[in-house]
Amino acid sequence: MMAESKTESSVEEEQKETYLYKEKIKCSPEEEERLERLHFWKIINVFRYYSAHVHERVSRAERQFFVLPLQHQMLLTDFIPNLNRIRKCIDHNQEVLQAIVQNCIHMFENMEYGEEDDIRKMQPASTFDMDKLKSTIKQFVRDWSHMGKAERDACYQPIIDEIVEIFPKDICDPRQVRILVPGAGLGRLAWEIAKLGYACQGNEWSFFMLFSSNFVLNRCSEVNSRTLYPWIHQFSNNKQSADQTRPVHFPDVNPQSLPPNSDFSMVAGDFLEVYTEPCSWDCIATCFFIDTTHNVIDYIDTIWKILKPGGVWINLGPLLYHFENMANELSIELSYEAIKSVILKFGFKIEIEKQSVPTTYTENDRSMLKYLYDCVFFVVRKPLDQFAPSGLPNTNGAVMQDFLKGSISERT
Ligand SMILES: C[S@@+](CC[C@H](N)C(=O)[O-])C[C@H]1O[C@@H](n2cnc3c(N)ncnc32)[C@H](O)[C@@H]1O
Repeated sequence: MMAESKTESSVEEEQKETYLYKEKIKCSPEEEERLERLHFWKIINVFRYYSAHVHERVSRAERQFFVLPLQHQMLLTDFIPNLNRIRKCIDHNQEVLQAIVQNCIHMFENMEYGEEDDIRKMQPASTFDMDKLKSTIKQFVRDWSHMGKAERDACYQPIIDEIVEIFPKDICDPRQVRILVPGAGLGRLAWEIAKLGYACQGNEWSFFMLFSSNFVLNRCSEVNSRTLYPWIHQFSNNKQSADQTRPVHFPDVNPQSLPPNSDFSMVAGDFLEVYTEPCSWDCIATCFFIDTTHNVIDYIDTIWKILKPGGVWINLGPLLYHFENMANELSIELSYEAIKSVILKFGFKIEIEKQSVPTTYTENDRSMLKYLYDCVFFVVRKPLDQFAPSGLPNTNGAVMQDFLKGSISERT
């Protein structure tokens, strides 16, 4: 059998392949703002298009049911009533999504997105974006529901325990300990750290997450006062029809119950672009984050630079590289072994390493299909003898004014 050889044209194709990485198209600040505004309104549109999209999915199920022979239909007396129940849940989810995007035009202190006008008619959203919205809905379960407690205990608690161990309150003033949580999602880990008295900043890049964290942190003060139906999009692997339509209540705690004078903020923007101030953080806590980049070495490099000498990086998560298999996106998929060797070459000292921490991520506990992540957990320290450039301020500036009054500062 002849070995397959690359044709001339496939070699040419490979050579032509370009990757979107670092060399972002340079444009004027005005153009950047225009693109940012477009993106903002695009994501608002996704939130608004939700019910149309999911109702269509239910209509498809309905059409397929009516293709069945009548005798088969008659055996399934609960099929259509279940779809009707799902439709009610869709409408309810849509109401919550509307509430989330309401007023987010003024969510950031230093960025305006223009007022609503008639030109912004709802457009169909892509399946890709709808999937992101459905994942965001599930993120409410992980971060802000009683149902997510076991998952938070597995993912967030080891990080929190280490912080308390490394920065004990009887030895240091927690308000002086500056902790950064990049890729903060809906903000629960950062909030828990702030609740313990530490100065904590969450950083998040996605508008899906930012709109939603703004909502839960600033506008949901009554425990379990809100309801979502996160599992209605799952048509396979249900043991009971009712599992699909079961509600999840949130928030399981009052997000506004932080101690007075807490130093807690959320900052919007790309971690690599926002955090450039050297030696400014005592601790960086990453959870399910380091695999979200094109090149994990960029994250390691930034973390190394912005940590104070003697500062620690605590990480927990898998390596499910987000850009793997995405067209025209650079994606360097390193094994944990390779990452560890890079971390050591930067000069970090490993203090704790656990290579097998089982966790889940936005798990549907009644599903017949479950994913288990076998995560790595580590604590590494930037040695004290790393020279800190003198005269550098320890604060990063542009911190939110008062989170509980509804502001998220934007620093892209
Ligand atoms: C897998 S989620 C984890 C969220 C949260 N840490 C948790 O454990 O639930 C990764 C998060 O990182 C965010 N993210 C990805 N790239 C980012 C970047 N360059 N800067 C800031 N956030 C980013 C994503 O939007 C997403 O919310």
